Amino acid sequence: MGESITLGEVQETLLIPLYGRALDARKRRSMLSDTKAAELVEAIDYDFAKFRGPSLSGSAMRASIFDGYVRSFLADHPDGTVVDLGCGLSTRFQRVDNGRVRWFDLDVPDTMELRKRFFDDGERYTMITGSIHETDWFDRVRERGAPVFLLSEAVLLYFPAEQVHATLARLASSFPSAGLAFDTGGRSMMNSQDRNPVFKALPARMQWTCDEPRSLEPLGLTLLESRTFGSPQADVARSWPVRFRFGMKAVRYLVPPVAGYRINLFETAAPAS
Ligand SMILES: C[S@@+](CC[C@H](N)C(=O)[O-])C[C@H]1O[C@@H](n2cnc3c(N)ncnc32)[C@H](O)[C@@H]1O
Repeated sequence: MGESITLGEVQETLLIPLYGRALDARKRRSMLSDTKAAELVEAIDYDFAKFRGPSLSGSAMRASIFDGYVRSFLADHPDGTVVDLGCGLSTRFQRVDNGRVRWFDLDVPDTMELRKRFFDDGERYTMITGSIHETDWFDRVRERGAPVFLLSEAVLLYFPAEQVHATLARLASSFPSAGLAFDTGGRSMMNSQDRNPVFKALPARMQWTCDEPRSLEPLGLTLLESRTFGSPQADVARSWPVRFRFGMKAVRYLVPPVAGYRINLFETAAPAS
């Protein structure tokens, strides 16, 4: 009998990318080689097989694009601070650790309780129980000063636009000159959720539609890069199987929900002088 779990509706969605990374790890040509995800899927008592469809490999592609953003930040700022907001059971710290980064993984109480059964804090790694929409964790992150890189993967999509905009504006004003990476979904992706096989298996639904990431700039952000599955970083693309590397370029023209899904890198505004 594996570990039993009880998670809220949005929290349960973390099991989709976990399973996607586990399936990827079992492949001959793996994008992430996330063997820990495969171990966790074995260890957790849950019907993962109910998740099907292209969103599973999409989870691994998405994670690798986010990893690319973090690696670029660490190349410029090897001693920087990275915060993964809504980390779920991600192993990003283990994947990109350069031996110097200070890393915080944050998630809400039920997810963190689950995470702490499988991960331990370390000298440069701390798990925080908290919400992306709250401010009580800000001081712990700011203690070390700049440079800071915040990322949030497949989290903001699940909240209403007004709440997301307020959260982004708060992050921008509280962490000036920081990197901020998060994903956005266009109308076509939101409207097709009920036909997506992974969402047929779960009650949670995404709520925030954003067709144009640049429209978020008035919140105190500057858009630096915006990528689809058809336009990953060149070094990230090289880690993908050929069928994804070339197939996704075509899919981006043919499948509107995929074309409208973007993984964005912003910079927050400099401090007011
Ligand atoms: C689809 S999962 C993504 C997990 C992880 N980022 C990944 O890609 O593997 C959504 C995550 O959002 C987290 N979450 C839900 N509400 C949150 C909140 N208010 N603040 C931070 N994280 C939250 C869930 O617990 C869950 O881990």
